[in-house]
Amino acid sequence: MMVNPSPGVLYVLVCGSPMARDVGILVALAQDEGWEVCVITTPDGRKFVDVAALQAQTGHPVRSSYKSPGDPDVLPAATAMIVAPATVNTVNKWAAGITDTLVLGLLVEAYGYGVPISVVPYTNKVMALHPSLHESVAKLRDWGVHVLYGDEYCRLGGPGQTDRFRGQFPWRRALQAVSGAVTTAAGRVEPGAVS
Ligand SMILES: Cc1cc2nc3c(=O)[nH]c(=O)nc-3n(C[C@H](O)[C@H](O)[C@H](O)COP(=O)(O)O)c2cc1C
Repeated sequence: MMVNPSPGVLYVLVCGSPMARDVGILVALAQDEGWEVCVITTPDGRKFVDVAALQAQTGHPVRSSYKSPGDPDVLPAATAMIVAPATVNTVNKWAAGITDTLVLGLLVEAYGYGVPISVVPYTNKVMALHPSLHESVAKLRDWGVHVLYGDEYCRLGGPGQTDRFRGQFPWRRALQAVSGAVTTAAGRVEPGAVS
């Protein structure tokens, strides 16, 4: 029987939203497709996930901060990245090129390497009205990031109800977006192990 080659290494980047509790769903879907998966969270994202369970599921440490100078890289270089859930905070800082978390550092460097990225911004519907979020989403789309944002992907709840539409969260569609991109990406700079 022919076995498909692994598509590569997928970084799943997780921010501080209750939707992060379900990120194991995405890890399992990606592993079923043959991806080697590494989970990296923001410092706030780390509060919403089961770190021990994700480490057991992926076989990699869940990193949340930059390494110290001289420390070795502990994760393999990324072939593709998915940011889900992505907070307003991280989306706006990413669009501005800010790198004050490991997640943001990886994303800013990924642009230079040409790594395919999909992102699922998620917040409550009042925060979602802020104009900066829309400007940032437009910038990311312009740069070729696959942005899954809008009612057709996942509806937003009111303040305090950010997990109201938990069952709709588009984990599979976020994976499909990068899976399609890696099969068409040729000739990009090979990524190094970063940060
Ligand atoms: C219980 C709780 C739920 C939150 N849910 C969201 C959310 O769904 N989307 C969002 O943009 N921010 C949400 N926040 C706010 C972010 O966690 C906060 O802006 C944080 O600074 C984000 O940091 P990060 O972008 O580095 O993960 C929530 C905060 C708390 C305490």
